[in-house]
Amino acid sequence: MRKIMIAGNWKMYKTIGEASMLAEELKKELATFIEADIVICPTFTALNTVYSIVEDTPIKLGAQNLFWESEGAYTGEISPVMIKACGCEYVIIGHSERRKYFNETNETVNKRIKAALGIGLNPIICVGETLQEREADKTKAIIEEQLTGGLEGLSNEDMANSIIAYEPVWAIGTGKTATPDQAQEIHAFIRGWIKEKFSTLISENLRILYGGSVKPENSKELMGQADIDGALVGGASLKEDSFAQIAKNAV
Ligand code: 13P
Repeated sequence: MRKIMIAGNWKMYKTIGEASMLAEELKKELATFIEADIVICPTFTALNTVYSIVEDTPIKLGAQNLFWESEGAYTGEISPVMIKACGCEYVIIGHSERRKYFNETNETVNKRIKAALGIGLNPIICVGETLQEREADKTKAIIEEQLTGGLEGLSNEDMANSIIAYEPVWAIGTGKTATPDQAQEIHAFIRGWIKEKFSTLISENLRILYGGSVKPENSKELMGQADIDGALVGGASLKEDSFAQIAKNAV
């Protein structure tokens, strides 16, 4: 049985003070909630403070990116060691916003995933097609390319410590959610691909999250699909009531 995971990607929102307030509210709301794994991913600057608030709760911490070197002259970058030292157990890698605005490629995604796994962080690996790609009937080809490049050289053990998030780019922040059927089709495709490249056991245990305009109103139906094991939530994770409701709806 795969345990549901609800992860909140706070993106570039919230100062340390605002992030603390949200973390305190979530702590009240979800302190005893253990039916699903809850992960929150604040900005780098708020990680340590948020950790001090949630460290004794079931709420886990994740970062939104990392650089693959452990230290060095890389002005502006944050290393896996530093992220781990902030209390993180997870890290989002290859989000479409990083691919689009910061030239992230499948190759750099692969380096980041390996660096995360190397230090014991669980990567939440994002894949997804643009609207143009979907309309050109290239969705599966794009996902396959992202998986092939991104997961290159990973072992079964690495995959056992990883999570995949399918986030169709056209559904992110647009209010346009993939229908449960559309999402399920791609989730099943991803699981099938993992089965072929790794093993049946790895594919059966792998959690595949859906992301893209998930809200309390649509989360139940999405999470009800056979291959959807949780959500990576953007906008609706910035308010405690909607995020907590998504978590409660999912189980
Ligand atoms: P929204 O939930 O705001 O569409 O964002 C999804 C997302 O990008 C999560 O990583």
